[in-house]
Amino acid sequence: MTQANEPFDAVQIITIKRDKGTLTPEQIDWTIDAYTRGVIADEQMSALNMAILLNGMDRAEISRWTAAMIASGERMDFSGLRRPDGGVKATVDKHSTGGVGDKITLPLAPLVAVFGVAVPQLSGRGLGHTGGTLDKLEAIPGWRAALSNQEILDQLQDIGAVICAAGSGLAPADKKLYALRDVTGTVEAIPLIASSIMSKKIAEGTGSLVLDVKVGSGAFMKDEDRARELAETMVALGKDAGVNTVALLTNMDTPLGLTAGNAIEVQESVEVLAGGGPEDVVELTVRLAEEMLACAGINDADPAAALKDGRAMDVWNRMIEAQGGDPKAPLPVAKESEVVYAPADGVLLELDALSVGVAAWRLGAGRARKEDAVQAGAGVRMHAKPGAYVRAGEPLMTLLTDTPEKFERAKEALQDSVVIGPEGSRPAQRLIIDRIS
Ligand code: URA
Repeated sequence: MTQANEPFDAVQIITIKRDKGTLTPEQIDWTIDAYTRGVIADEQMSALNMAILLNGMDRAEISRWTAAMIASGERMDFSGLRRPDGGVKATVDKHSTGGVGDKITLPLAPLVAVFGVAVPQLSGRGLGHTGGTLDKLEAIPGWRAALSNQEILDQLQDIGAVICAAGSGLAPADKKLYALRDVTGTVEAIPLIASSIMSKKIAEGTGSLVLDVKVGSGAFMKDEDRARELAETMVALGKDAGVNTVALLTNMDTPLGLTAGNAIEVQESVEVLAGGGPEDVVELTVRLAEEMLACAGINDADPAAALKDGRAMDVWNRMIEAQGGDPKAPLPVAKESEVVYAPADGVLLELDALSVGVAAWRLGAGRARKEDAVQAGAGVRMHAKPGAYVRAGEPLMTLLTDTPEKFERAKEALQDSVVIGPEGSRPAQRLIIDRIS
């Protein structure tokens, strides 16, 4: 029954999707607005989410759903950012769907800013086995995640890069909807994931967006076909909203780099900014920087050189200092450590990202509930990556925590995490799987 002064009712909307129908733009606008206002109850929205998960949505529906979520909150505007010649500064953002050891935002934002592009990275905290960018940066003494909109703009104008917390004003409908999906088994619906991510990114006001869509055991999307569908949907949504959007599909069967945690990932990022660091982290950072710069119309830059010659590190130091952090201060170190040894001689063929992510989380690097605190020093330091020859009894990983009672559960998570093959065998490895534009 339609409530007084409401043009539709929730049961009618649920029934349309249950019966594989298509919602009109007006029905979608009303659904998001009515849910935000509390007119649609959680149990009704849960039923609708499940119908969407089972029966999908077409392109026009997803686009309108995204627009309605954007309209539920504020929209940032970076068009006032000026270059020294008075022109408008290009803004380019990167979003990763989340993985284990994914610290790429840390070196990437200052690296892209070296070339005069403004990089607004409004980020989140980790939940579950994938880490959060803000949790990592908060390992730096004094660093502050919460900035006002004016502080974000000033920092983008002066330094070019800002990584900070996304304010609660961006797409508030998504906040409510995502919390509901989390407890009703409806997170995995591609239309809902795509609209959730893109509503926040479009509301953030960036001119261009590069998406890093992860595929593999440590990612949201375990198989390539679904990851590709998600990437294509998000690229289309970006374009519909006038945001120049491209996506890379990248492998997340193995953790990125040699660290999964908070302070240890900051340390590894600083190594990359100093011109060193693990090959896969450098490769993905440089490739994403090239994509972001191309979006801003810069095709002749050499981001790898800016990592080697210290220009990216200079921007990093200024970016951290501007948010109260001391880039030279020692990072927190876990009080306890325990080593996991290689079980056999041979070539390391697999090092399972999900297992390492769960171990790092159980050691205290991540949180199970939103309100939990994380340990800055906790995590997993890896000593070998797939492709390396290892000997039985050699250290394979070091587990780090302030609370040694957590070691047992972390080791359980790692029980089947490695596959070692005979000498001469080679792991199936492809870091960058495809590009979607
Ligand atoms: N991240 C989001 O912001 N939303 C989703 O639905 C999934 C991942």
